[in-house]
Amino acid sequence: MKNVQATAPGKIILFGEHAVVYGRPAIAVPVTDVRARVGLQTTGSGKGFRIIAADLGRDYLLVDAESDDPLATIVQIALKHLGQTVPDATLTVTSTIPLGRGLGSGAAVSTAIVRALGQFFEYNLPPADVSDLAYEVEKLHHGTPSGIDNTVVAFEQPVYFAKGRPIRRIRVGQPLTLVIGDTGIVSPTRETVGDLRRRRQAEPECYEGYFDEIEVLVDQAKVALEQGLPGLPAIGKLMNENQELLESLGVSSPELEQLIKAARQAGSPGAKLSGAGWGGNMIALIPARPEVITAVTKALADAGATGVIVTELR
Ligand code: MEV
Repeated sequence: MKNVQATAPGKIILFGEHAVVYGRPAIAVPVTDVRARVGLQTTGSGKGFRIIAADLGRDYLLVDAESDDPLATIVQIALKHLGQTVPDATLTVTSTIPLGRGLGSGAAVSTAIVRALGQFFEYNLPPADVSDLAYEVEKLHHGTPSGIDNTVVAFEQPVYFAKGRPIRRIRVGQPLTLVIGDTGIVSPTRETVGDLRRRRQAEPECYEGYFDEIEVLVDQAKVALEQGLPGLPAIGKLMNENQELLESLGVSSPELEQLIKAARQAGSPGAKLSGAGWGGNMIALIPARPEVITAVTKALADAGATGVIVTELR
């Protein structure tokens, strides 16, 4: 009788979303306050492989899954990688990461499933393998993903990521406090990325120019983050500039901008959308003072945030 448990964190993109799809670098960090959790337990022989995702109201057998079912797909991909046949077992998936809000819920669920299967078969899977396997499912969810979500979630550390280049870990000079505000609007990454792709195709020079400007900001942000707290206003300014460019790219929204404005007015030196945009979450950098944390949290709730997470980046 085997019974294993695995988890994976959410993520936020600090700088460089969307431009990262076009080969520019981006900076992302894990959010350990929210997690996907997976349990895998053997059952009686002949019972098959059952998947229970209570949050999604789903309970089904792997053999009955649709061909594009993301949970079944990652199970099949991981079993193949591990050289294993389908065991008689029950996989249970739960998650505190809000779905479709730019916090990497899909990558986290895939990562936790791969980790659980690795443990189940007593196979020590390196993070790079976990990330590569989760990437296969990201392609199903997102169409043309850069790979940053599966990378930051599987490595569980702040990363400076650019497609096709070695992953660089970012060591933050000082812990930073971030507030994450949820617009409550579900925004599938596939749609924002697809829409931007069409606009970029129509006006390549204009959009490549924006991506180049974002790349400059990302590289400045890497230096500022590594320097730590003396750079707090500098990091905030870069976040605000990144937000302006995201607005130019057409991926912001009035709801996101309302939360961003509220956070800045309540004392945040920098705020921006995080992830795909049009909905989902925004992030605000704040000094780690209790009165500022309280003020920004309240301001976001008053401005319509459906959820607020305060997280520390170290
Ligand atoms: C989604 O978390 C980030 C995007 O840049 C898409 C991607 O990198 O695949 C919008």
